[in-house]
Parts: sequence; C-alpha cells; structure tokens
Amino acid sequence: MDKILIEGGRPLHGTIRVSGAKNAALPLIAATLLCPGEHTLYNVPDLRDIRTMLRLLETLGATYHYPEPHTLKINSDGVQGFEASYDLVKTMRASVLVLGPLLARLRRARVSLPGGCAIGARPINFHMQGLQKLGAELELEAGYVDAVVKKRLQGGTIYFDVPSVTGTENMLMAAALAQGTTLIKNAAKEPEIGNLVDMLTAMGAQISGRDTDMLTIQGVDELQPAATTIIADRIETGTYIAAVGTAGGEVTLSHCNPRHLPSFLEKMRAVGLSIEEHDSSIVAARSGPIKSVDVKTMPYPGFPTDLQAQIMALMTCSTGLSVIDETIFENRFMHVAELHRMGADIRVEGGRAIVSGTGRLSGAPVMATDLRASASLVVAGLAAEGVTTISRVYHLDRGYERLDEKLQKVGACIRREKE
Ligand code: EPZ
Repeated sequence: MDKILIEGGRPLHGTIRVSGAKNAALPLIAATLLCPGEHTLYNVPDLRDIRTMLRLLETLGATYHYPEPHTLKINSDGVQGFEASYDLVKTMRASVLVLGPLLARLRRARVSLPGGCAIGARPINFHMQGLQKLGAELELEAGYVDAVVKKRLQGGTIYFDVPSVTGTENMLMAAALAQGTTLIKNAAKEPEIGNLVDMLTAMGAQISGRDTDMLTIQGVDELQPAATTIIADRIETGTYIAAVGTAGGEVTLSHCNPRHLPSFLEKMRAVGLSIEEHDSSIVAARSGPIKSVDVKTMPYPGFPTDLQAQIMALMTCSTGLSVIDETIFENRFMHVAELHRMGADIRVEGGRAIVSGTGRLSGAPVMATDLRASASLVVAGLAAEGVTTISRVYHLDRGYERLDEKLQKVGACIRREKE
C-alpha cells in the first residue's frame, strides 16, 4: 500500500488538466452490456474503480482494450454471464449498475448486495422497487439479489422517494429495452445522468426530459453500439479548487465544465476565492483571507455531498464558525477524526458538523478512510505546517487520476512512497 507525504505552505500556480468523470464512466461502461457489438468511450479516466468495473464486465463475457490512452473499446458480443460476485461488488458499490442492463438484455441477473461502506448503509431498495415496477421478479438469497424477467421488461411508472443517482441510471438502462413507456419521477438530475442519456440516445433509445426530475423512456426492441465522450469530472474539479482555497495561489483547471458546479463555485466565491468561468476551464485564485461559510449538501444542482469533506478541510483554515449539514449520507464525517489529528476544531452533532476555524493546521500522520475523506486530507495537508503523511491512499486512487503528479506540477510539495 502506498502513502502520500505533503509539506504544506506552498501556494499553487499553473494548470491542472481535469480527467473524465468517474461517476459518468461507471454507468456508461455498464450500458455497453445492453447490446452486442463494439462500443467506444472517449476521455475515460484511469482509475481503480474503472478497472474494477471492467474486470466485472470481463467476468460477464465482455472484452475490452485501450487503442490509445483514455479511449476504451468494449465488445459485449460474448456477454452471457449474469452474476456479479460478492468479491467484486464489495469493493465497489457501483457494480449494482449491471443489474438493469443484464435484466434488459439477458432477462436474468444475480448481483451481490453491496454491503455497507464507510459513508453509510447504502441500501439498494429503490433499485429493486423500480425494477419490480418494470416486471422483474426479485428475491434476496444468501446476500444476493436474484432477478428474473419472464418474457420482457414492461414499461411502468417509477417514483423515487429520494432522487437516487445510480437508481435513476439503472432504471434508464432497463427501461430503454422494455416494452412500452416508462416514467421516472423524482429522478436525479446529476450531469452524469445526462451523459448516460446521451449515450443511450446515440444507441437508439428514445428518452425525453434530460436534466429534469421527470424522465420518459419509450422502450425499443434493440439498441446499437455507439461512441460517447465521458464528461469532465466535476468532483475532481471542485477538489482542486478547494486545494487552491487552502494553499492559495492561482490555478487554471482545463478540460472541465464550470456549468456542472453551480452551487460549489458560488460557495467558493463566498469563501473569498476569485473564480473565473470559461467555456471549458476555470481559473481559481485565493490570496486574501479564507471566510467561513455554512454548507448544506443537497441533490444536484445543490451543493454536492462529494465535495463536503473537501470544503470542511478548507473551513478548518478559516478563522470563523462554519456549520456543515450532510443531508445525503448518514455517516459521511469519517474525515473529522483525521482532521482533528491535524489540529482542527470540529464538533459533530448527528448530520451536522460545526467547524471553528483555527486559521492554521499542523501536519500529522493521518489515515484515508473513504474516497472523498482522503481528498479532504490532501486539501488540508497543502495548508498544514510541516509534513502530513496520508496512509491507505488506495482510497484516493479509486477516484483521482495521478493526483500527486497533478499537484506536484503546480508546485505542491507532495510525493508518493511505498508504505
Ligand atoms: C452516487 O451514489 C455517486 N456514486 C456517489 O459518489 C454520490 O455521493 C451519490 O450518488 C450522491 O450524489 C456514483 O455515481 C457511482 P444515491 P449512489 O443513490 O447512487 C439513499 C463518490 O464519492 N438510497 O444518489 O449510490 C442513499 O443511501 C460516490 O464518487 C437508498 O436509501 O447514491 C443516500 O442516502 C460516493 N436506497 C441517498 O439515497 C437506494 O436504493 C442518495 O443516494 C439508493 C439510495
């Protein structure tokens, strides 16, 4: 296992190229199961979770290769398997995304329940209820969801109590090949879902309501493989902007989409950063004081839960009081204990964290617990006095492509070592 060492106190200057979005690439890779042929995905990020998803597709009979870096070709002619095993699913909850496409194509799926993870129980009841509405018969047996469709999935109306991102994605993929019309109400509106709608449409699906909370899908009899470009990773973009917040300096984020971060960019301006938005880049800078702000995570287009840990790290470097409400997940404060080790003053009461900015953190040995908590430790380490050593950085490698190299390139004193 690797560790990352950061010596804080150096402002960042230069350009960081943002990679393709992990949370778009995962559903789009799963969507290649929907029909045989060779599918092409551009701007695929080189991440641990992507490799896990591709391994899962191989166990189902698909094959893949990269004709050039970040361009992925997947051939799903040979897909006959329908089981996603526990040893794969337990490492990546997003494996549940094969449930919809396998039912649509093979009318059969046996997917391990993901089990909890660091940030919460992460149930998949909405996925199961939705697929039942489309005519699937599901039962839980030995920790697996065993699903079968007698003849063909039938269109139906699905209402999400809570807008679920992967739940909406699973329903879109299943409904694309169902008989008749499907309505998805209270659908999630994250940009990654729009990327999936674009891919399915290019494959011949008939979907309306993109980017709204009401999606209508006219099922078709068959789909064709297509070529799709993965959108930029808005969470990676926000993570580096938070890093500019703590470290100071001026950085251009290239190959990104500022329109996918409406709430976050406004919040960064309130903190005191200068944020210049261009068509496919953002210039973020901070030289003045870090102001404390309150944050409440919400479904898109609200403040993203995936950037909550990162802004908390930034708030520990302010000199005021900041109230952070995490409304999406029940246990997404794993980074608090590690930030405490760096001298942060944070009090947690249920889903609320109250941060008393101390103005300065001190470097310490800390441990990554989940993907975004690890990112917050990097953001904090860039501002801390002395050296911060982050262990178990495999959590980081799940969702950030070459993070240490990208930060080194803009002047951070950061290096990776074998643990
Ligand atoms: C997606 O997870 C993202 N992952 C998460 O990013 C992100 O934090 C989350 O959406 C929220 O935006 C991917 O896209 C691969 P949800 P997902 O279903 O779909 C509850 C990261 O760091 N719920 O939108 O699993 C759930 O517990 C990851 O990149 C049910 O109760 O999240 C949560 O409280 C972390 N039953 C809320 O809904 C269900 O069947 C929203 O979860 C499904 C969800």
